[in-house]
Amino acid sequence: MATAGVLPPPSSARRPSFKPIIEAAGSKSTAKVGSSEFNPEKHLTFEPPSKVYKMADIGLSDETGVSTVAVSEPFPLFSPEAIRVMREEVLREEVMNNCNYSSNIAACQLRGFAPKYSPFVYEAWKNPKTLEIISRIAGVDLVPVMDFEIGHVNVSVKSEQEKERELANIREAKSRMADEGIAGCPWEDDKPIVGWHTDSYPFVCVLMLSDCSTMVGGETALRTGKGDVVRVRGPQEGCAVVLQGRYITHQALRALGATERITMVTSFRPRSPHARDDTELRTVRPISDLSELYYQFGEYRLEILEERIRSQLRKIRETRGAGKRFDTKAMKNFLTETEDFVSRTDAELIEDEKVQVGYIEEMKYENVKVEDTKAQEHPSKRSRVE
Ligand SMILES: [Fe+2]
Repeated sequence: MATAGVLPPPSSARRPSFKPIIEAAGSKSTAKVGSSEFNPEKHLTFEPPSKVYKMADIGLSDETGVSTVAVSEPFPLFSPEAIRVMREEVLREEVMNNCNYSSNIAACQLRGFAPKYSPFVYEAWKNPKTLEIISRIAGVDLVPVMDFEIGHVNVSVKSEQEKERELANIREAKSRMADEGIAGCPWEDDKPIVGWHTDSYPFVCVLMLSDCSTMVGGETALRTGKGDVVRVRGPQEGCAVVLQGRYITHQALRALGATERITMVTSFRPRSPHARDDTELRTVRPISDLSELYYQFGEYRLEILEERIRSQLRKIRETRGAGKRFDTKAMKNFLTETEDFVSRTDAELIEDEKVQVGYIEEMKYENVKVEDTKAQEHPSKRSRVE
């Protein structure tokens, strides 16, 4: 990561100079932390996604990641009541003041608020039933990477006038295209919400916290193994998508025609300490309380290491107990893997003073343009995952 120039103090994450105006957001007076308890029977409204795409479906090898699953279609996950409580918890003033980060690629992100400010959100993502659902879709047993990543909230807010202007532009473009017989043209040559990137963590679950029934765009674009672009639909309010984002280059497309778009992204890693864990901190280091992030990362990496060492110790003792020869090759393999794990852990812990706060390196691919993919009369020229 580039470290040129004068850097802000290490642990003082960059705070946005504005606060988004969000209608019906929680505030000091309306939201009482801890007043609602997560109840999976009541708050989970899960219905399986209509389709789960495999890595092979987008031209990537099954060996690429920790599962053969690439991405799901949106599926219902949490009830309207659960979404209301989540919004109250994460849009409260304390979170806006204490957990708000901005970067070169996103203006307003709320991070590290659970469980302190949002016990309901925390319980919702830690609940065994929720984890079972996410794991079943992902094709691998998953747990949240660490508490700091429960969850990362992206906030994009516009005024009613901006929304109306966008919708008017879309209507105008539609009728012009109908007149001129053009199909599949992008509405607006504009920047995506988040540019091309791979995530730091193996899997993400993206949950929609906004009503986006009037929204155009807001999809996720994926680069296939062949280098072309496919799109997956964005979720509606209360719905989610699961994506193996560490291994798939993707971008969140801009959403037009909605006053707000608030998503909660919760990141996951394999539960088994023996599974491959390619977790990085590349995209989160610049937008985190470093002390908290490094503690939680260091703790879980040491837990994995502890488990792996205990397991290897058990193996060599059992071999010895059975009167067999020492397996030199197996021991050397274990040590090589351990060295690699330790050195990758070390490499992620970039010294505080070298971290460029608020700066995330972007990939140099051309951004995808926003299209009205709801409009069946103007089928997209670009391929979609279907
Ligand atoms: Fe991502």
